[in-house]
Amino acid sequence: MAGRLEGKVALVTGGGAGIGAATCRRFAEEGALVVVTDVNGDSARRVVAEITAAGGRAEARVQDVTDEPLWDSLVADVVAAHGGLHVLVNNAGIAIPGTVEEVTLADWRLTQAINGEGVFMGTRAAIRAMKESGGSIINISSIEGIIGEAHTAAYNYNKGGVRIFTKSAALHCCKEGYPIRVNSVHPGFILTAMVEEGIGSMPEEIQAEMSERLAREIPLGGAMGEPLDIANGCLFLASEESKYMTGSELIIDGGYTCH
Ligand code: NAI
Repeated sequence: MAGRLEGKVALVTGGGAGIGAATCRRFAEEGALVVVTDVNGDSARRVVAEITAAGGRAEARVQDVTDEPLWDSLVADVVAAHGGLHVLVNNAGIAIPGTVEEVTLADWRLTQAINGEGVFMGTRAAIRAMKESGGSIINISSIEGIIGEAHTAAYNYNKGGVRIFTKSAALHCCKEGYPIRVNSVHPGFILTAMVEEGIGSMPEEIQAEMSERLAREIPLGGAMGEPLDIANGCLFLASEESKYMTGSELIIDGGYTCH
């Protein structure tokens, strides 16, 4: 039986760890050729080695998503080498905790450069490459792009921006007649290095309050999700099964935002 992404070429940013790595593995299992990019080349190469050992097809590229010229040359390389780009997952992101009073301008700008400008430049480069052949662009936002959190001011700002930017790009593609769908994914609390480090760097009383709150407020089992939960959502958006979806928000959060 053919895989759900057979014949497709997919590029996943921040593919060396966490949600990005799980998405790369899942896409490869379903037949995609996966370009795993990450600012950390070793981690991208590790994920590629796992995929190829399991019989899948993947290649690693070092990419800092804030590098504008690299976006255009990378996408052009992928199209030249593999005959097209059909799926882009703008996944690379960082989370620097801090309230509006605590966050520094430097941290605010760094978050904006990676989580905001990186998504914009990736979406733009992919649209240019996909406008004739078609494709699916998946922007990883967060539940923090829908609800506020006092301790994540810069992150909230950018993830909210990714959510509404996705709708703008989706409408643009429809208006221009490009066969490109653009959707956002909104993970809840998913156990990855980012979450462990983010929660670990908060003051102890806030950490305790956070763990207690997660257990109480995640309706589905009172526990964090795993990267595969998000990878499966990305797989659906990458495949033709979601052909009537664009500008949509796929929330995968164990029911957290139902409150
Ligand atoms: P992670 O920290 O485990 O992995 C992020 C990856 O992005 C790392 O491999 C890192 O090297 C890479 N990266 C960082 N800066 C980069 C840059 N400038 N250019 C290229 N790659 C870069 O993070 P995780 O948890 O897997 O998060 C992935 C995405 O999911 C992020 O956009 C994050 O905001 C989002 N998300 C995560 C949630 C969670 O609970 N883990 C919840 C909601 C959203």
